[in-house]
Amino acid sequence: MRKKIIAGNWKMNYTLTEADNFVNEIKDRINTDELDVVLCPNNICLERVSDLIDGTNIKLGAQNVHYEEKGAYTGETSANMLLSVNAKYCIIGHSERRQYFAETDEMVNKKAKKLLEKNITPIICVGETLEQRESGILFEHISSQIKNALDGISSDSVKNNIVIAYEPIWAIGTGKTASSMQAEEMCKYIRDEIRKLYDDKVAECVKIQYGGSVKPSNASEILNMEDIDGALVGGASLTNDFVAIVNYE
Ligand code: 13P
Repeated sequence: MRKKIIAGNWKMNYTLTEADNFVNEIKDRINTDELDVVLCPNNICLERVSDLIDGTNIKLGAQNVHYEEKGAYTGETSANMLLSVNAKYCIIGHSERRQYFAETDEMVNKKAKKLLEKNITPIICVGETLEQRESGILFEHISSQIKNALDGISSDSVKNNIVIAYEPIWAIGTGKTASSMQAEEMCKYIRDEIRKLYDDKVAECVKIQYGGSVKPSNASEILNMEDIDGALVGGASLTNDFVAIVNYE
């Protein structure tokens, strides 16, 4: 039985004070060990949130990392820096980073390898545009994102230390959620692709989240699908809605 994982991607929201107030408001209401809960604040707030969730079951995640160890990469954050604030997860390949910051599959693969080397779990995002879905290259596109992201990564790592987040781009921040059937269809497809790349055991263990306009009203339908092991939540992770999502039934 795969333990579900619900992560909140705060994106570029919340100052330190706002983060303080928000985490203090929600932390005792999402202190569960039935599922993994991860908060992914912006870099400025990482250390503060790390302190605030210390002693709870909530884990810390970052929103990005550089694949080099250290050096002259102005504005970037290394995996060791994430380790120093006790980050356990890091989102990579988010469609916003691919779209606005030219993050490529190759970079996603290098970032995944660097994170695994440091024992930080990559949350690897994949997803299609509406055009790709409508023009019928949907499965091909997702398959290639998965293959490229996982290139050269061992079956042990995929089995134990990788999360895949399926986030259809047309459903992000638009209020349009993929139907639970559409989300399940793709998460199952991703699991089958992993089965082809690795084996049954890896496919049955790897965690696959859905992301895109997850809210309290659709959380339980989505999270109860067989191949959906959790959610990557954007907008709703900034409000009390996150508590309701985590407490879905
Ligand atoms: P929304 O939940 O705001 O649609 O964002 C989803 C997302 O991009 C999470 O990474």
